[in-house]
Amino acid sequence: MRIVVLVSGTGSNLQAVIDAVQAGALPVEIAAVGADRPGTYGVERSAAAGIETFVVDFKQFADRDAWNAELARVCSSYEPDVVVSSGFMRIVSAEFIERFDGKYLNTHPALLPAFPGAHGVRDALAYGVKVTGCTVHWADAGVDTGPIVAQRAVVVLPEDTEETLHERIKVQERELLIEVLGELARA
Ligand code: GRF
Repeated sequence: MRIVVLVSGTGSNLQAVIDAVQAGALPVEIAAVGADRPGTYGVERSAAAGIETFVVDFKQFADRDAWNAELARVCSSYEPDVVVSSGFMRIVSAEFIERFDGKYLNTHPALLPAFPGAHGVRDALAYGVKVTGCTVHWADAGVDTGPIVAQRAVVVLPEDTEETLHERIKVQERELLIEVLGELARA
């Protein structure tokens, strides 16, 4: 199974996937890693691991449609079976979703449909939930919507800050993503 992984930031979840692939624990080929802006650690660490990388810089395009079209074109050129949004902080267009129909996987640090959006951990904490978690789902054109593939729960501790809670969620998120990719690859 060939995957393209999209990141916007540090890519620590991506690193866990890279480690699993390199350890022979995940029968997946990472065809490329792409970002929506230059200078991400996610792209840097992928290049260091010998993985092909690309940047489709949102700021270099006249509008969202033009950016989306180019992102779809570049992703397609790697002929992926699955495109993984792993901390990719931009909404893609309906055209992108159609092009990768049923192939665009997203990870989110909350138990969807609760707390979608860019601040899922902060919002869950602010609401005062006692249990939150992470979700891996097939993304549609909405914000963190689409069929849920798998979830894991994480207990919120009284002393949690956004950072400590997000770190514990990410431990689960990494395992869950690898588990889901493994199941898809072996299906
Ligand atoms: C993950 O929790 C992802 O779900 C969220 O941002 C985090 C990405 O972290 N949207 P990293 O870039 O993998 O370290």
